[in-house]
Amino acid sequence: MDTISLPDPDDGRIETRNIFVHQSLLSSLLVLSMFLWQLLTPLLLITVQTYEAQQCEKFTKLNIGHAIIGTRLTIRLLLYTRENGFCGSLMSHIDMSANSQLNLSRPTTFVIHGFRPTGSPPVWLKDITEGLLARSDINVIVVDWNRGAATSYFKAVENTKKAGANITAFIEMMQNHGASLSSIHLIGFSLGAHISGFIGASLNGSVGRISALDPAGLMFRGTPTHDRLDSTDAQFVDVLHTDSDALGFNEPLGHIDFYANGGKDQPGCPKTIFSGESYFKCDHQRSVALYMDSLTRTCASRAYPCSSYKDFLNGKCLECDQFGAAGCPVFGYDVTEWKDALLKLNQTKTYFTTNPKTPFCMTNYRMDVVIWNRDVHWGYVTVKLHYNGTEAVAKIEHTASEFKKYTETTLLAQFDKDIQRVEKVSLKFSTGNVLKPKQKLRVLRIRLTHLEREQTPLCRYDVLLEENREVTVRPIPCERSSF
Ligand SMILES: *[C@@H]1O[C@H](CO)[C@@H](O)[C@H](O)[C@H]1NC(C)=O
Ligand SMILES: *[C@@H]1O[C@H](CO)[C@@H](O)[C@H](O)[C@H]1NC(C)=O
Ligand SMILES: *[C@@H]1O[C@H](CO)[C@@H](O)[C@H](O)[C@H]1NC(C)=O
Ligand SMILES: *[C@@H]1O[C@H](CO)[C@@H](O)[C@H](O)[C@H]1NC(C)=O
Ligand SMILES: *[C@@H]1O[C@H](CO)[C@@H](O)[C@H](O)[C@H]1NC(C)=O
Repeated sequence: MDTISLPDPDDGRIETRNIFVHQSLLSSLLVLSMFLWQLLTPLLLITVQTYEAQQCEKFTKLNIGHAIIGTRLTIRLLLYTRENGFCGSLMSHIDMSANSQLNLSRPTTFVIHGFRPTGSPPVWLKDITEGLLARSDINVIVVDWNRGAATSYFKAVENTKKAGANITAFIEMMQNHGASLSSIHLIGFSLGAHISGFIGASLNGSVGRISALDPAGLMFRGTPTHDRLDSTDAQFVDVLHTDSDALGFNEPLGHIDFYANGGKDQPGCPKTIFSGESYFKCDHQRSVALYMDSLTRTCASRAYPCSSYKDFLNGKCLECDQFGAAGCPVFGYDVTEWKDALLKLNQTKTYFTTNPKTPFCMTNYRMDVVIWNRDVHWGYVTVKLHYNGTEAVAKIEHTASEFKKYTETTLLAQFDKDIQRVEKVSLKFSTGNVLKPKQKLRVLRIRLTHLEREQTPLCRYDVLLEENREVTVRPIPCERSSF
């Protein structure tokens, strides 16, 4: 634009007049069109922007400055459906007819985030929305309360009840237009779990389901049920605990509570403050990653009812008979298959362990060992399963196990992966005591039973385990009489 200059009438003395006329006409046209373009460009941009805005409504983007100064609560409800191709549309709180893309004959799942200390949009919202829509043809409503969550923690906690009341009003409007409460599922992370609880309580517990991902503990511990999530807030409440000793909540809050790796610390998460920000949030955030694995069916983790994590690791809670043919509940999105059984039990605490990263699920075997040494032996066992160059490892080292003559010791062996056909088994016994002379464990029988798959248990009879020396044997199907 700036570079265009009008031709100088004096510089064309040797040129014909004709050319000059042409040039000046052309230039005038050019100038005119440039002028028009300048005029039109902003208009065009505005149109494009509004078009985009109508097409894809985005989660509120804030920064740490907003969080420090504080933000006032604003609730935006972003709808995602299979038709709108993961492109959000903003729902009206007052006029249902404006929400034409919301099909109330379908189930609706609300996804509710927690405290936002940096104001950034939660990165997992996109994945969970896509995961939910890939599984079922539903309405996914992402609740964007970033303004209200990006502030001090105390203020954010204060906002949870207000946010709950606001979303309740929207759900009541949905109900007035024909939606059924039992087809509503609220998935809440951290503070979002308690918001889900407040919504559920306001709707008399008629909402179909609440899934709470590591419900927040700070300022909620020890409060009465109307000030936090509890199992009366929905027809079915499933809760996952991953950071109950810091940001999460320790006590059971639902019909079923899953304590991943004991519910406090997660494998692969930093154990010291020197790792920076992730030290504070890794365990807490892991709840979302675990739920995602269940949603995408990357793999399934069975969860075992037990009164404590210690008992679970000690192999004392491997019974699943109370759930009949279905077996123990599988953690996550599909736990609704156990809903009826779990409602009868009212409250069930369950445990499972995971790998440090996806695929998170581990493979559990029950290992029964009988020895014939005269004396009692205490120690740790490492088991490896092999097939065609693939190896799965289980270390039973959380506590020293007791082995007694002709007495069956039951251990829980948790492998990092599933070996479809076990060809060889490696065993190693250690006492952890370097000063004492090396011990020998005379194993009369060792039996490995896959806990998640129907198959004949694997046995090996008469193995000598010298301390710290790995022995590899070929297992055989156990004799009928010995299981
Ligand atoms: C919910 O919040 C939105 C935006 O923050 C507001 O426009 C709407 O009126 C609120 N609804 C109720 C019932 O308070
Ligand atoms: C609403 O959803 C139902 C159930 O999936 C479907 O049968 C119906 O065609 C949908 N209506 C519209 C307008 O898309
Ligand atoms: C919940 O119960 C209260 C009191 O019984 C009633 O006023 C209210 O309408 C009920 N709300 C719903 C959504 O059923
Ligand atoms: C079921 O659990 C809830 C919440 O923990 C408790 O208030 C209620 O008394 C229990 N009901 C029965 C029948 O055990
Ligand atoms: C064994 O492993 C190799 C290499 O990973 C693979 O090519 C082969 O198909 C496997 N054989 C069987 C029987 O699984």
